[in-house]
Amino acid sequence: MTQTAPVRLDAATRREQSWVFFNGAYTHYADAKIGLLTHALNYGTGIFEGIRAYWNVERSQLYVLRLPEHFERMLQNARTMQMTIPHSIPELCAISMELLRRNEYREDSYIRPLCFKADEIIGVKLHDVSDSFAIVTAPMGPYVGTEGIRTMVSSWRRIDDTMAPVRTKCTGLYVNSALAKSEALQAGFDEAIMLTHDGHVAEGSAENIFIVRKGQVITPPPSDNILEGITRQTVMHLMLEEMGVEVLERSIDRTELYNSDEVFFVGTGAQVAPVVEVDRRAVGDGEPGPLTMRLQSMYQGVVSGKDAKYLDWLTPVY
Ligand SMILES: Cc1ncc(COP(=O)(O)O)c(C=O)c1O
Repeated sequence: MTQTAPVRLDAATRREQSWVFFNGAYTHYADAKIGLLTHALNYGTGIFEGIRAYWNVERSQLYVLRLPEHFERMLQNARTMQMTIPHSIPELCAISMELLRRNEYREDSYIRPLCFKADEIIGVKLHDVSDSFAIVTAPMGPYVGTEGIRTMVSSWRRIDDTMAPVRTKCTGLYVNSALAKSEALQAGFDEAIMLTHDGHVAEGSAENIFIVRKGQVITPPPSDNILEGITRQTVMHLMLEEMGVEVLERSIDRTELYNSDEVFFVGTGAQVAPVVEVDRRAVGDGEPGPLTMRLQSMYQGVVSGKDAKYLDWLTPVY
């Protein structure tokens, strides 16, 4: 008898057939549609989250990293954007878990909750426009290189909080990031570093930034228009507890990047990623720095559930 090989779906088909949550019901990605006049599509009036889940081969377990914290931020963002998410944090966590189980992921994965102004109307405002809520999941590998990133300081300044709420993961704000990222990639770099309107280092296009300089680890404060990252908070905790390193939050000037011993990005997507070059100047000796690499490996141990001490940051799916 001939054996047929198991059918492997290509990524697009797999996505079309995957389970999503859309306006209160589980459905398939291919059946969750929105119209062309949808408010958020025209005016950028959406908010989203990005959450990673890590597959632990030894335990056959998928661990979601800091799941409630992401929904806590999302509910805060909803308030700022005059949106209503009709679910509590425990409900949102339960829906996410149900989706990962239904989609049977046994690999590193990503959860993308999205709330958006859904009315199909012409008119720029936030109030009296109804909201839709969705969660989509997908398999997910690395977002940026983890072995040494070459960066440039972008000519696009990070949006200021007096212009739009930079603490939100508002879809419209990501035009700012997209402009910076494309500028960097098209100039032959891997990632952009954005400055605030008054010239201080803010962050990468989708990552918070840290520098190591004169024996101190420094990161820009929230008042320098950064997204208050959950990974930023996670690695600050790990550095304090596991390395005895207290991170200093203060404004950073551009030339400090050139004189740093180490520079690294952190974020849900980027995880812990060493920066080895800024504006064609080597960071330190041009190789990923020792603190960064120690933190990267510690972070991998924590997020994959290998480090039992931080299991309460993880939600097991199976
Ligand atoms: C602009 C921006 N900054 C920083 C981050 C890092 O945030 P987090 O660690 O919560 O993923 C992200 C990613 O979500 C981002 O989009």
